[in-house]
Amino acid sequence: MKKVKLFETTNQEIILLKQYITENAKDETELQILEAGCGRYWPLTIDGIQYKLTGVDIDKKALKHRKEKFNDLSEIIIGDLRSIDFEKNKYDVIYNSFVLEHIDNAETVLKNFIKWLKSGGILILRIPDRYTVYGFVARFTPFWFHVFYKKYIRSNKNAGKPGFGPYPTYYKPIISRVGIRKFCERNNLIIKEEYGHQYYIKKQTFIQKWIILLVKFLNLLSFGKLAWKHVDLTYIIQKDN
Ligand SMILES: C[S@@+](CC[C@H](N)C(=O)[O-])C[C@H]1O[C@@H](n2cnc3c(N)ncnc32)[C@H](O)[C@@H]1O
Repeated sequence: MKKVKLFETTNQEIILLKQYITENAKDETELQILEAGCGRYWPLTIDGIQYKLTGVDIDKKALKHRKEKFNDLSEIIIGDLRSIDFEKNKYDVIYNSFVLEHIDNAETVLKNFIKWLKSGGILILRIPDRYTVYGFVARFTPFWFHVFYKKYIRSNKNAGKPGFGPYPTYYKPIISRVGIRKFCERNNLIIKEEYGHQYYIKKQTFIQKWIILLVKFLNLLSFGKLAWKHVDLTYIIQKDN
């Protein structure tokens, strides 16, 4: 597999995502966007187009926070992406960010997304890559360690409280570059963009410098099989016309 292209800043990613979303708004009709597993926050501000943003999530508390703090969803649905029943060909854009690694049968959810998308519609998918040093460590460490990491290393004081992450992870094999590529091949989907994120390397606090050294060491121990330069991946996937 070719080396993955990398976003160096969050802004680069946001610009690309907004560009694809606005390109999908070809005429005057309101763009239908589903934020699947919307959680507490949506990072995109999209000007110049009309759109309806529907958010669905299984966590009521996160949705309550979203409504009280941002009130940016046109429609709020408490539901499980594995079983919720939306009409076929309903959405122009589905935005799914850091959700599939928390779902035991992620492939069922991906198939639902494809069913719910209109022809030519796009799926924006953000996932951690299972086959990276971080992905490996996340899979082989207990959940309490994930809470500890978020709370004390990433300084998120609410980590582990109801309505806040981290959420338990499954990291099925599909949650990887190779897994998503194969899924797209099997389902005739076009990968328009594939990027890794390199932001974490830039955040060089004292502890993080040590973590990065450890990550490089684990990369060597794995004979390079576990990638270290990226942790997360972003895809823009198009349902064929
Ligand atoms: C790590 S958070 C990501 C939230 C948001 N998308 C973001 O990028 O900040 C994962 C979200 O997925 C939601 N989630 C997990 N399993 C789900 C399921 N089966 N159906 C719907 N939402 C789910 C969680 O409740 C949580 O809000």
